Amino acid sequence: MKLLVTGGCGFIGSNFVFHMLESYPDVSIVNLDLLTYAGNLENLQDVTSYGERHRFVRGDISDPDMVCSLISEKPDVVVNFAAESHVDRSIMDCCAFIHTNIRGTQVLLDACRQYKIPRFVQISTDEVYGSLALDDPPFCETNQICPNSPYAASKASADLLVRSYHKTYGMDCVITRCSNNYGPYQFPEKLIPLMITNALHDFQLPVYGDGLNVRDWIHVQDHCRAIDLAIRKGRTGEVYNIGADSEFPNIEIVKHILDRLSKSHSLITFVKDRPGHDRRYAMNAAKMRNELGWQPLVDFREGLNQTISWYIEHEMWWQRIKSGQYLNYYEEWYGSSLGGAATKTSS
Ligand code: NAD
Ligand code: DAU
Repeated sequence: MKLLVTGGCGFIGSNFVFHMLESYPDVSIVNLDLLTYAGNLENLQDVTSYGERHRFVRGDISDPDMVCSLISEKPDVVVNFAAESHVDRSIMDCCAFIHTNIRGTQVLLDACRQYKIPRFVQISTDEVYGSLALDDPPFCETNQICPNSPYAASKASADLLVRSYHKTYGMDCVITRCSNNYGPYQFPEKLIPLMITNALHDFQLPVYGDGLNVRDWIHVQDHCRAIDLAIRKGRTGEVYNIGADSEFPNIEIVKHILDRLSKSHSLITFVKDRPGHDRRYAMNAAKMRNELGWQPLVDFREGLNQTISWYIEHEMWWQRIKSGQYLNYYEEWYGSSLGGAATKTSS
């Protein structure tokens, strides 16, 4: 199976690349990634052992020439992870979110339509559904979408475009919507890696509002296994929710991280709330479980402790991000400056 993966140098995309290469000897991957601040080739350092089964191409999913040149190679499936993914950044300025999350998805869809690509899989999010009250049932696929942040609105727009290409042109499309991921290689701007890395250096841990917002956590490996099933067995035109029934208020997670690291709770600083902050997310993943036979394998507490250990053991990885050094890796690898499109197999 030939896959075109977009955004494969980010957190979930890079975990997915490894999952697929490890699981299936006959899978080869072209990885199209712009290497924004969130894309990090160091996430893929170990991919060299897979030789030509992984090929990295630097480029923008919103660039029709770049996208068509890769899609004309006729992959069996296009899996679209590429996105601007951080809610706080979308509140500061949402231009890049419109460019990548909406325009980029449209460019990919048009190219897939033109080259009759057998399947398009859109990696979406629970945030498109909006916010739940504490006593509401978890989101089902039939819930109305009701996004509250510019990020969520851009992802919801992309979902609607995907749906429309399925309905209008009969394209084979599947959408997955997952809850909050955690695990190795998550950029340290997101809650869990930010709190771990700050705590390790005795920096303040900024908790928004009253700290009682609830997120439904899933280990990135369980998410990757679910996407793998959606690619192979998902029904065309369907949406699949993914979640591991692990709801926790933010403050509980932050305290657990501090306890695990034997750090004082006095590092917690309550700060001004995020505007439009969704109170609670929770996913009903019954369709994924019943139709595709998926179930999460990683217990949250165990997965969180492993993740804390991973950040302790990989301090160099996140220190290079915090210092900005990781941005040089591309030049070190290619011996050329950032800017032009480049392509390289992993061998
Ligand atoms: P991330 O920010 O870690 O990675 C995004 C990747 O996309 C980066 O490698 C970046 O360089 C690349 N990219 C950005 N703009 C691009 C463009 N125009 N062209 C090509 N590449 C571009 O994101 P993530 O957390 O790994 O999320 C991946 C996907 O999963 C996103 O679509 C996100 O909406 C979705 N998602 C994330 C979560 C989560 O908890 N992190 C949960 C559900 C769904
Ligand atoms: O639910 C899926 C979504 O999860 C994905 O679609 C997004 O790409 C991903 O970024 C994530 O969005 P969240 O906004 O839920 O994640 P974040 O890590 O930014 O925040 C998690 C919770 O922690 C949220 O309630 C805000 C809070 N928070 C976050 C940060 C960064 C804090 O209290 N302090 C912080 O410094």
